[in-house]
Amino acid sequence: MKSALLLSLSAFALAAPTKEAASGSKIAFSRARHQHKPRADGTVDLDRFLGTLKYTALKYNKDFPLPDVLQEASLVLKRDTDAEDPLTDQVEGDEDELYYGPGYIGAAKQLFTFDFDTGSSDTFVPGPQCGAAQGCPHTQKYNQQGTDEHNTTSITYGSGSVSGENYFDTLTVAGLTAQKQNIVSLTQAAGFNDSNADGLLGLAFQSIAASKSTPYFFNLVNQGTVNPTEFSFYLGRQKSGTAQNSELTLGGRDEAKYTGAFTNVPVTSQNYWQVAIGGAKVGSGLNLPTLPTTAGQAAIDTGTTLIIAPTIAAASIFAQIPGSIPLPLGVGVPLMTLFAYPCASKPNVSLVFAGKNFAVNNLDFNFGTLNEGLGLGLANNTIAGQLANGYCLAGIAGADLDPTQNLWVVGDTFLKNWYSTYHYTSPTSAYVAFAKAV
Ligand SMILES: *[C@@H]1O[C@H](CO)[C@@H](O)[C@H](O)[C@H]1NC(C)=O
Ligand SMILES: *[C@@H]1O[C@H](CO)[C@@H](O)[C@H](O)[C@H]1NC(C)=O
Ligand SMILES: *[C@@H]1O[C@H](CO)[C@@H](O)[C@H](O)[C@H]1NC(C)=O
Ligand SMILES: *[C@@H]1O[C@H](CO)[C@@H](O)[C@H](O)[C@H]1NC(C)=O
Repeated sequence: MKSALLLSLSAFALAAPTKEAASGSKIAFSRARHQHKPRADGTVDLDRFLGTLKYTALKYNKDFPLPDVLQEASLVLKRDTDAEDPLTDQVEGDEDELYYGPGYIGAAKQLFTFDFDTGSSDTFVPGPQCGAAQGCPHTQKYNQQGTDEHNTTSITYGSGSVSGENYFDTLTVAGLTAQKQNIVSLTQAAGFNDSNADGLLGLAFQSIAASKSTPYFFNLVNQGTVNPTEFSFYLGRQKSGTAQNSELTLGGRDEAKYTGAFTNVPVTSQNYWQVAIGGAKVGSGLNLPTLPTTAGQAAIDTGTTLIIAPTIAAASIFAQIPGSIPLPLGVGVPLMTLFAYPCASKPNVSLVFAGKNFAVNNLDFNFGTLNEGLGLGLANNTIAGQLANGYCLAGIAGADLDPTQNLWVVGDTFLKNWYSTYHYTSPTSAYVAFAKAV
């Protein structure tokens, strides 16, 4: 599958962590240090689960009406909350947290670690005025030696905001340098308190850039620095011993990280890496029906931990999982619904893209056991009592983030099982391709 061009690009690779010949320019991700003790009893870390849920809801809909239990939750930028599989005896720290890697800004090649995010389009790093009290706990601050644009970028999330000053500077990742890259030098941040990454590097399209500027990858494309015009993610899984193999490849695909053929799924709208989702299936076997009310659009988002489905789609999925219990957050019309299911049932959920089934690995579907002291403010004691008995929290939640198009957000809970390539062809043509991750 390799072209001569791909091979020549491998000369740019900073490090080729694989045994095979490398395609494109790669960086390996570090895994975040554990800042929390693992839940030795296999229970879900609910604070983090709710924090990532809140972050994702506001990322996709900054006016999303948050249920009470989320109002007070801290925004958590992409922290994975999957506790140990409760049915496994060997219990170790095994949470896949943030996937992040290095990038260098400016003539001084200042090193920052970034969360690489296909669900947003701006590049943020802490500026000198952003200290811990402003939501930037890390010591590395941008030296502001680029060209000051004398304007600002600001995103308001409910009660909080992320804002900063715009600079043009160079940005280098995996040896590929974008010139005149917009860098938001943060004065105020949200979501980084619990994050080991210094900043965020958005890999989605310019149409959703709050800075209105060209995102890093598209600067590389426009400046002729990346060829083929694509990038790929391998997100490892601690439970499978592959977390340290996580990798971003710019300008190609790493053959050591996937197996079998790719399925191309056309991008339907160049904002997020948005594609049509045919729906969901539950069970195993070749001819399972696609469940009713599950089709829609999906943002493929490496910067999100969970899978968020439209409320009606999530209900359709869990109706097929015997014994599952909806956990509506908020009274009256539930604003969000989490789902508990009997851990022992290990259900198989698949998503359908381009007419093919893509399984969610049960290791990723299972976010750990629940118990009565759940902290969800459940009004119904009957439910709380049932949960004491071998129930796990599912990595698929229901929320209507964009009801006009039945929007799903498909995050790492899916992407750990599927190597993903994001290919740009032209302003009217792009695709996401999936192949089985190894
Ligand atoms: C982040 O930490 C700072 C300093 O401890 C604190 O003032 C701020 O409220 C925290 N933000 C969130 C969202 O937890
Ligand atoms: C900031 O100014 C730059 C340079 O003039 C411009 O390209 C960019 O669109 C402006 N950004 C915003 C958010 O106004
Ligand atoms: C899930 O799929 C696997 C592999 O096809 C199968 O062995 C297992 O029985 C399935 N589990 C359920 C609950 O259907
Ligand atoms: C509480 O939950 C149980 C079990 O799901 C259900 O049968 C019952 O109707 C619920 N009660 C109320 C008041 O919603």
